[in-house]
Amino acid sequence: MPDHGRLRAALAAAEDDRIIYDLDGIEAQYDALLRELPGIEVRFAMKACPVDEVLDCLAARGAGFDAAGPQEIAQALRTGVPVERIHYGNTVKSDRQIAEAYRLGVRDFATDSLADVAALAEHAPGARVFCRLATTGEGALWGLSRKFGCSPEDAVRVLEATRDAGLVPAGLSVHVGSQQLTSEAWQHALETLASVIEEANRRGILLDHVNLGGGLPALGVLDRRGEPLHPPVDKMFAVIREGMQRLGELSAAPLGFLLEPGRHLVADHGAIRAHIARLTDRQQLDGERTHWLYLSCGKFNGLYEMDELRYRLEFPTHPDAVTVPAVVAGPSCDSDDAFADEGAGVPVPRDAASGDPVWILSCGAYAAAYTTRGFNGFPPLPYSCVRADRPSGGPGPEGEPQ
Ligand SMILES: Cc1ncc(COP(=O)(O)O)c(C=O)c1O
Repeated sequence: MPDHGRLRAALAAAEDDRIIYDLDGIEAQYDALLRELPGIEVRFAMKACPVDEVLDCLAARGAGFDAAGPQEIAQALRTGVPVERIHYGNTVKSDRQIAEAYRLGVRDFATDSLADVAALAEHAPGARVFCRLATTGEGALWGLSRKFGCSPEDAVRVLEATRDAGLVPAGLSVHVGSQQLTSEAWQHALETLASVIEEANRRGILLDHVNLGGGLPALGVLDRRGEPLHPPVDKMFAVIREGMQRLGELSAAPLGFLLEPGRHLVADHGAIRAHIARLTDRQQLDGERTHWLYLSCGKFNGLYEMDELRYRLEFPTHPDAVTVPAVVAGPSCDSDDAFADEGAGVPVPRDAASGDPVWILSCGAYAAAYTTRGFNGFPPLPYSCVRADRPSGGPGPEGEPQ
């Protein structure tokens, strides 16, 4: 678990609800990732945190971006990153989106179908194409399976069609599922990659890159029952390092490696300062009395991922408080807007009062982006970024998430 000292200081200084990002923490996480996986190039999955200051600091560090469409590409370009470092990682794209990305200078495109290859040939002549292989998504909180990626057999067809269409069959990509909790998922993906590279080589197709996608986990979140997840990150890194070595050895041409981490770089370095709307205690229809803690933000403005996980909460005005177990929920009139009611309740101060601040940790990923425009009138949270030399930071351009 990262040290949240700088974030805590900023959370304590915040006078209103907001998301706070620790830019030094994000940079340190990026550096640590490169130390674990020497030789890999990062294409940050900007969907996880499309906040200009975060993108700027990653670009300045040498990262590129995985973009899902022309709007994200335009935002990535505003960081000043060379366009060669932007990868169009979304296999789903219309003709118009392909043409616009190409006009903006992007040449690296992910695909997983012959139809998409034909569209790339028409609207992005000469593009470098990465074929995404399907994975089962097993072991991940969000599997991303079925919607994306093709079978190994199809991948070879896609690569051949790429070559035949005058495009560059540049590489393969995978995504093992988001918040992946097993190293075996990487092992399986790397084995599939090996078999497709060998088959492509046999057919005279020499690939130059493998994109190992996202999936590396956040460390500080809890499962739906409130238990720590303990993802085996060291083992994951060991499996990835060995896999990179093996793929490099079996490939008929030199291979470079890309990674598209999203949550792993930002989740544990962002936190929300929210407040308590109300702590209640109600008899439910089964006769049980249950405490409910309603927060000022929830699934629709910052905590979208509460469908699969719980966040750690801190109550800074109630140190060493006597607690009661509660179900935690957001402020809207929607019953999905709640932590899973499984396992033990969340310990919350018995004397929690409306207006008391709450700190929600490890929610730097997907918080700013997965927010409604104001469902039930609850607006997106503004955000701030902090650094060691500027402990309280300042709001973003409009003080609002992008
Ligand atoms: C193509 C692609 N790459 C990378 C990511 C980032 O995933 P994660 O946040 O799990 O690292 C995603 C997320 O869904 C994605 O769709």
